[in-house]
Amino acid sequence: MRVIETDELKLEPQLAAHAAEMFFVLSDPAIYEYENDPPPSLAWLRARFTKLESRRSADGRQQWLNWVIRLPTAKLIGYVQATVHPDGRAAIAYVLSSAYWGRGLACRAVQAMIPELVDQYQVRSLSAVLKRDNRRSLRLLERLGFSAAPPELNARLQVQPDELLMVRFLDFSHD
Ligand SMILES: CC(C)(COP(=O)(O)OP(=O)(O)OC[C@H]1O[C@@H](n2cnc3c(N)ncnc32)[C@H](O)[C@@H]1OP(=O)(O)O)[C@@H](O)C(=O)NCCC(=O)NCCS
Repeated sequence: MRVIETDELKLEPQLAAHAAEMFFVLSDPAIYEYENDPPPSLAWLRARFTKLESRRSADGRQQWLNWVIRLPTAKLIGYVQATVHPDGRAAIAYVLSSAYWGRGLACRAVQAMIPELVDQYQVRSLSAVLKRDNRRSLRLLERLGFSAAPPELNARLQVQPDELLMVRFLDFSHD
């Protein structure tokens, strides 16, 4: 994995060494309004990040790519991630500290990741699953050109009634 740099953000391949700073970021309760829970302890998060340094699922078939997001001030503010399947599909996710919401930073971080996924990992389509009530996440995806997936794809991927599956097919040209 490579570092991805823009004028406003740096995406660094996530390492166990990021755990202490990310524990603070990920302890923000606002992040979990719709799903998931904060990491139970720093030791737990460090162990998780260590495992994720393999960049692979347990069966080795999926690439698990995680980048932490760093501001020019050197502060870490969240992460973006992609689960890349062998057929060129990637499921993405993103989390930003609530102190930095509303500035377009998550949007720019995901936007920075997309050309890297296309060029380095041969990704051809993107998907994201979110809780229907998570309006911020939905707005972000719509701004990035995602649209609601067709019903048959929802059924195939076992999307739950309280969730939305959003997809974007990439045209091989950069944003
Ligand atoms: C989902 C999440 C990353 C969205 O964060 P965000 O800051 O709202 O997202 P964006 O980066 O798209 O920023 C959009 C906001 O910035 C504003 N903005 C300012 N400058 C902007 C720019 N140059 N480009 C885009 N948006 C800009 C937009 O108007 C918008 O403001 P609004 O919310 O008042 O309408 C954040 O809410 C989060 O981390 N949530 C918790 C985790 C989560 O739910 N993850 C997703 C699971 S599916």
